[in-house]
Amino acid sequence: MSLRALAVAVRENAHVPYSGFKVGAAILTKTGKTYVGVNVENVAYPEGTCAEAGAIAAMVASGDTEISEVYVVADSPTPVTPCGGCRQKLAEFSTSDVKVTMGTLTGEEIAMSVHDLLPGAFTNHHMSNV
Ligand code: THU
Repeated sequence: MSLRALAVAVRENAHVPYSGFKVGAAILTKTGKTYVGVNVENVAYPEGTCAEAGAIAAMVASGDTEISEVYVVADSPTPVTPCGGCRQKLAEFSTSDVKVTMGTLTGEEIAMSVHDLLPGAFTNHHMSNV
């Protein structure tokens, strides 16, 4: 199954009683494995988590840490872009050239690198004097 197909399929399981906005994410790692996630909202609104965060958590729980590609999909008029926090989370496990494809349910797509999504990212390089 393609990363898009995985993201589209898992999106159905999003828990979104408050926004009604379902998001699905799929990650391919350097090991060739795939991980999926959905947004999981909470009645205490700030406690909700994004689809990208769910996929990253599944990846790390499986002992995998090196992202090679990402796909994010939602039923949005234009391709959904990861929030600021998720850009930082993706950067944690990606090289700057990792491709993040954002898609709509109807098939419109935009692809950007992790660097393009988060130029000037804070990395462990900045802490190398510690
Ligand atoms: N959301 C994601 O899961 N990923 C994104 O890239 C953008 C936003 C979720 C968070 C919240 O559950 C809903 O979409 C509306 O903001």
